[in-house]
Parts: sequence; C-alpha cells; structure tokens
Amino acid sequence: MDCFEITGPGRLSGRIQAAGAKNAALPALAATLLSEGTVELRGLPLVRDIRTMARLLEHLGTSVESDGDSVRLTPSGTAVADDADYELVKTMRASILALGPLVARLGHARVSLPGGCAIGVRPIDQHLAGLEALGAEVTLEHGYVTAKADRLVGNRFRFAVPTVTGTENLLMASCLARGTTVLENCAREPEIADLARLLTSMGANIDGAGQDRIEIQGVDRLGSASHRIIADRIEGGTYLVGAAITGGDVTLEHASSADLAPLLEVLEQAGCTVEAEPDQVRVAVDGPLEATSIETSPHPGFPTDLQAQYMALMTQAQGRCSVHETVFENRFQHVPELVRMGAAIEVDGGYAWIEGPSRLSGAHVMATDLRASASLVLAGLVASGTTVVHRIYHLDRGYEGMEEKLRRLGAEVERTSE
Ligand code: EPZ
Repeated sequence: MDCFEITGPGRLSGRIQAAGAKNAALPALAATLLSEGTVELRGLPLVRDIRTMARLLEHLGTSVESDGDSVRLTPSGTAVADDADYELVKTMRASILALGPLVARLGHARVSLPGGCAIGVRPIDQHLAGLEALGAEVTLEHGYVTAKADRLVGNRFRFAVPTVTGTENLLMASCLARGTTVLENCAREPEIADLARLLTSMGANIDGAGQDRIEIQGVDRLGSASHRIIADRIEGGTYLVGAAITGGDVTLEHASSADLAPLLEVLEQAGCTVEAEPDQVRVAVDGPLEATSIETSPHPGFPTDLQAQYMALMTQAQGRCSVHETVFENRFQHVPELVRMGAAIEVDGGYAWIEGPSRLSGAHVMATDLRASASLVLAGLVASGTTVVHRIYHLDRGYEGMEEKLRRLGAEVERTSE
C-alpha cells in the first residue's frame, strides 16, 4: 500500500488548478444511463472513484471511450445487466446513483446495498422512499435493493433530510417519469445544479435545481449531450487551507469562488487575506491566525467535506475554538492522529474543541477516510520532521495527483510504497 512521506515545516506558495469535481462527475456518469444517444463528459478528475463508476457502467452495458479527462459514453439501452454487483458497490457507495436512472430507463434495477463507511451509517432510506413515491416497487433482500416500475409516474416528494445523492437519484429518475414531479427539501450543493445542466442538455425539463424545491416535467426520452464538469470546490478548498496552515500564498485557478464562499468567509474571519474573483481565489497569510469556530451543515453552510482539513488549520490558530460536525455521526477519525502529532483537541459528542497554536511534530499516521487523509497531509506540511501518512489509497479516491500539486507549491512530499 502507498504512503506519503512529508518533510516539514514547509510553506505552500504559487498557483494551481482545481480538478473537475468528483462529486459532480459521479452523478453525471450515472445520468448517461438515461440517454438513448451518446454523452460526452469533459474535465473529469482522474481519480479512482471515477474509474470505478466507469467500470460499473461498462458492466451495465455502456460503451466507454476515454480520452484524457474526457469520456464518451453510449449506454446499451437494453442494459445487458441491470445489477450493480457487490464487488463494485462495496468499493464505492456512490454506485447507488445507478438505481434511479436504471429503473427510469429500463423499468427495473438491482443494486447492491451500499454499506456504511468510516464516517457513518450512510442510510439510503430517502432514495428508496422517493422512488416508491414515483411508483417504483422497491424490495430489499440478500443485501440488494431491487426497484421495478412499468413507467415511473410524477409525484410530489419531500425529503426528510437534505441528501445530496438522494436528490440526485430522484432528479435523474423523475426526468423520464410520466407527468410532473416536485421534490422538496432538496440538497442545494453546486454539484446538483451541475447535474441538472447536463440533464437539461440531454433534453430534460427541470426548474429550480440548486434550490430546495425542484420541479421536473417528465419527458419520453433523453438524448446526446456534451458537458464540462464543474471545478472541485472540496479538492480546491483543501489546497487553500494548505496555504493558510503553512503561512503561505496560493492562487487556485479554475475554481468557483461562489461555490467556495462558505470556506472563504471563515478563512477571512480567522485572519487570512482572501482575494476572490469569479473563477479564481487567492489565500495568503502574513501573521498569526485567530481560532474561529465552525459548524458544518448542508450547502450553503460550511461543507462537512472540509471539516477535517479546517480542524488541522485550527491547531495552528491562536486560542480555543470548536468544530461542530452535524452531518455525519463519526467524522472525527482524524482527531487521534492529529493529537499524536501534538495537537490539543478534545472531542465531546459532535463537538471537537481545539486549543492552539500547538507545535506539531512529524509522525507515522493512519488515513481512515478520504477527507481525514487530507487533514493529516496538511498537518504534515506544517509539522517539524517527517510525517508518513499510511493507506493513502483513501486519498487517491478523490485527489488527482496530490503529491505533484503539493510539490508544485513548494512542499517536500514523496509517494512511497510500504
Ligand atoms: C454526498 O454524500 C457526498 N458524496 C459526500 O462526499 C458528502 O460528504 C455528503 O454528500 C454531504 O455533503 C457524493 O456526492 C458522491 P447525504 P451522500 O445523503 O449523498 C443522511 C466525499 O468526501 N441520509 O447528503 O451520501 C446521512 O446519513 C464524500 O467526497 C439519510 O438519513 O450524503 C447524512 O447524515 C463523503 N437518509 C445526511 O443525510 C438517506 O437516504 C447527509 O447525507 C440519505 C442520507
């Protein structure tokens, strides 16, 4: 298994580009199952989850032609297989995004139930309740979910909790339902509006994506399209936190400052210099940072996917602050590893209390999930000595060429294998 060996303390400075958004690319790939033509997706991040989703689509009969960060997908229509099997789904929960498109396009789908993961139970009850509201017959057995419907029928459905992939699943399914669907209490993450732009270019009739109420007029078929994926606000935000934690100066290009606003507001409060243009952001630090508390919440709140990275930053800020994680029940696994590096953090339920600044020293640390891994890398950049982050296959799921990007910004980081 690969590790990162990081020598600190260092300082990040320079310019990098954000990759395409993993969490926009995954639903976009699933949406191609709805098309009777060929869909071209451009600007895909070259990360493992994208390759996993492409393999799943091939298993479902889609022809996939890759060319760098672009891919052309032509679903078989008859879908030689309608089941996303356990072997594929166990490595990536987002496989559940195939469920809505398959039952909408083919009238039947069988997807292995995604298990929980390191950060929480991750139920999909809202995905299933929404498909039932559209008339699908949903059954759970042998670790699989099966959904059947002659044709989905538009309906009104209110999510009990704003769920990103739940909203995406129902948005895709309702595009081919008969009649009008109104989805309420939807998630408002930017990746949902990006998915709606793709679906609309395929011929869907959607109003309100990106807000908490979305109205969809079902159509009989969806066709070909070509779509560029939006920039990854979480990957890009991770590097901006890297600038802050190392007292550096980084300009992130190919980024949406609007999508990054929840992070930028907090970085500014903490004392960072933030210069935001529509498609690029500069973060620079030229003095001590002030401890600033946050609470994660669905967009437009502070993103839970940047919580671990921000916590690493607060170990270097002056004073005491809290990080309140409200979205997932177990998203503090980076804490014991940060404490081993010298951080002063106490966890009390959904709250982590951080006392800073603390001098971090390099250590062997273990990655547990995608964003916790990023947090440990950021801590390694500012720790004195060598930090070895083990099991960085977690990182490879969502960060394209992280070591190259960090080296380009002046970090000393090597990928080694155990
Ligand atoms: C998406 O996961 C992202 N993944 C996650 O990013 C992200 O952390 C999460 O949204 C929150 O922003 C992708 O987009 C592929 P949710 P998702 O459904 O859709 C509860 C990363 O690091 N819930 O919005 O699975 C759930 O338990 C990953 O890139 C239900 O109760 O998250 C959680 O508490 C990690 N019932 C809350 O909603 C359901 O049916 C939000 O989960 C669905 C969700």
